[in-house]
Amino acid sequence: MRKVLIVGATSAIAEATARLFAGNGDALYLVARNQDRLGAIANDLRVRGAPQVETEAMDANDFSRHRAMIETAIVTLGGLDVALIAHGTLPDQKACEQSFDETLKELQTNCLSILSLLTYLADHFERQGSGTIAVLSSVAGDRGRQSNYVYGTAKAAVNVFLQGLRNRLSRANIQVLTIKPGFVDTPMTAGFQKGLLWAKPEKVAGGIYSAIQRKKDVVYLPWFWRFIMAVINSIPERLFKKMKL
Ligand SMILES: NC(=O)c1ccc[n+]([C@@H]2O[C@H](COP(=O)([O-])OP(=O)(O)OC[C@H]3O[C@@H](n4cnc5c(N)ncnc54)[C@H](OP(=O)(O)O)[C@@H]3O)[C@@H](O)[C@H]2O)c1
Repeated sequence: MRKVLIVGATSAIAEATARLFAGNGDALYLVARNQDRLGAIANDLRVRGAPQVETEAMDANDFSRHRAMIETAIVTLGGLDVALIAHGTLPDQKACEQSFDETLKELQTNCLSILSLLTYLADHFERQGSGTIAVLSSVAGDRGRQSNYVYGTAKAAVNVFLQGLRNRLSRANIQVLTIKPGFVDTPMTAGFQKGLLWAKPEKVAGGIYSAIQRKKDVVYLPWFWRFIMAVINSIPERLFKKMKL
C-alpha cells in the first residue's frame, strides 16, 4: 500500500488517476479548493478500494499553507510515497496580452505554486531516500506559440525546475516524473472543438499510473505527442514565427 498526496485532486485527470491508486489499495490525501467535490470524490475512492482517504481544502495560491499541508498529509497518512501535482488553469491569452496582472495571476497558479510545493516535497523525499514526485505539465511548455504562450511559459518553467530536481534527487533514489499531455477532454478544455488528437482523462490517467510504476522521467500522453512535438520543435524559428499556431 502506497501513501499518495494529490494536489488539485478535483481535476478530471487527477480524479481518474486517483481511481487507479484506490483500485490498487493505496491510501490517499486529497487537496483542492472545493470541499464538497473533495468529499464526493473521497467517498467514491473508498468504494473503489482505498483503505484511507483524507481531504483538505486549500487554494494552491495560498503559498503560506504549503509546508503545513504537506506535513499534515505525512502525519495523517503515516508517511508519503507519491505526490501528484495536478491543479492548473488555462489562461485567457488575449487578456494576458492586455494586463500583466492577469499574466502574473496565471504564472502564480500554473508555475509558482507548483515550485513552492516542490520545494517542500523535495525536502521530505530527500530525507526519506525514496518516493515519487509527479507533476502535470503540458506539451505547451515545449515551444512558445502565439495562442497560449503564457500557459506555455508556466509549464516550461515547471519542466526545467523538474529537470533540475530530478538531477538533484536521482542519487537519493527519488523518481521525478514530468507528465506532458496533449489535448485532453476535461472541464479545462470544455469550450474547444474536439477532434482525432483528443484523449479522455481515463486514458491519460492510465499513462500516468504506468509511468509511475515504470519509474519514468518524462512521459508524453498519449505517446504519439512525443513525435508531434519532435516535429514541432524541428521547425526552424524563421518559419515557425510566421505560422499561425
Ligand atoms: N485538459 C488538457 O487538455 C490538458 C493538457 C495538458 C495539460 N493539462 C494539465 O493537466 C492538469 C489538470 O487539468 P485538467 O485537464 O484535469 O482540468 P480540470 O479538470 O479543469 O482541472 C483543473 C483543476 O485545477 C484546480 N485549480 C485551479 N486553480 C486552482 C487553485 N488556485 N488552487 C487549487 N486548485 C486549483 C481546479 O479546481 P477548481 O475546481 O476549484 O477550480 C481543477 O480541479 C492541469 O495542470 C493542466 O494544465 C491539461
